[in-house]
Amino acid sequence: MRILSGIQPTGRFHWGNYFGAIKQYIELQEQHDGYYFIADLHALTTVRDAAVLRGFVRDAALDVLALGLDPERATLFVQSHVPEVSELCWLLMTGTPLGLLERCHAYKDKKEKGLKADAGLFTYPVLMAADILAYDANWVPVGEDQVQHIEVCRDLARSFNAHYGEVFTQPEARVVQGASKVPGTDGEKMSKSYNNTLGLFEPPNELRKKIMRISTDSRPMEDPKDPETDHLYQLFRLFATAEQTEEMRAMYLKGGFGYGEVKKRLADAADQYLTPARVRREELENHPEKVDAILQAGAAKARDRARSVLQRAHKACGLG
Ligand code: ADP
Ligand code: TRP
Repeated sequence: MRILSGIQPTGRFHWGNYFGAIKQYIELQEQHDGYYFIADLHALTTVRDAAVLRGFVRDAALDVLALGLDPERATLFVQSHVPEVSELCWLLMTGTPLGLLERCHAYKDKKEKGLKADAGLFTYPVLMAADILAYDANWVPVGEDQVQHIEVCRDLARSFNAHYGEVFTQPEARVVQGASKVPGTDGEKMSKSYNNTLGLFEPPNELRKKIMRISTDSRPMEDPKDPETDHLYQLFRLFATAEQTEEMRAMYLKGGFGYGEVKKRLADAADQYLTPARVRREELENHPEKVDAILQAGAAKARDRARSVLQRAHKACGLG
């Protein structure tokens, strides 16, 4: 199966991005032909500073490679390095009903809040459809929030094929079965928009300080507590071994402990889990030419595939 997914470089990745998405994408490289890209064209709808965007793209590449994306197995590239996708986007756009895009949540939410939306945000799902169809992808692993966009892609592929003949491969969304809602430092869903994130590659001391400041309730120490409803436990479980998790669970059910102890154990477990990726990231940072070579090779491979799909589409609709 060909797997394809993209991640937007709109900030530094946090624990929610990793456990809710990136970790599962990387695991799929073991058994499938993985195509993963950094969606810089999509990021342009929110990041409008050239140096900042360039930095985020670089960081995203370093992060996913350090976290285990293996360029020997999977293809990693930057979205804008495959210009065929933008052209395919135009072909799809000529057959996209406005009503379909009006229902898409990224645009709808912004409009409902009375904010100004631009055509880039409005047509964002069509670019996403082009991303997927350009590589004949079969499966698209995404978080719950992106399923609507995959439905749009399927609709566009279906109507293009019905009109012009079998050009596009019909993709399927694979909703990742990871942690669907990793809590942030305030117990709400971790998100860069809520300023409650714990970064994957924050300096260990700063991360520890942030962990020690995670909000907790004020129940007496001696009370037993339900681990399933506690965000510190939810976070601990992501990093801990099965044995450590069981031990922590028993501690909650018994009571008689302070949250400071849980935070300390969380910081230790996170540190142990993240250290190998930190080391790999530092190595890569010292060899920027290696990262450039990986992205260039990825783009060359992705372009070959996108070129042949675009040719098929051109021919079918009477171009060239
Ligand atoms: P943010 O909310 O910080 O802006 P994004 O929307 O850029 O994050 O998220 C990128 C991907 O990471 C999404 O597809 C989503 O599935 C996943 N993700 C983000 N935050 C979380 C979270 N708190 N728990 C689980 N998954 C998350
Ligand atoms: N819109 C996706 C997100 O915000 C990123 C993305 C862009 C994507 N193109 C894609 C994901 C194609 C899957 C397939 O998370």
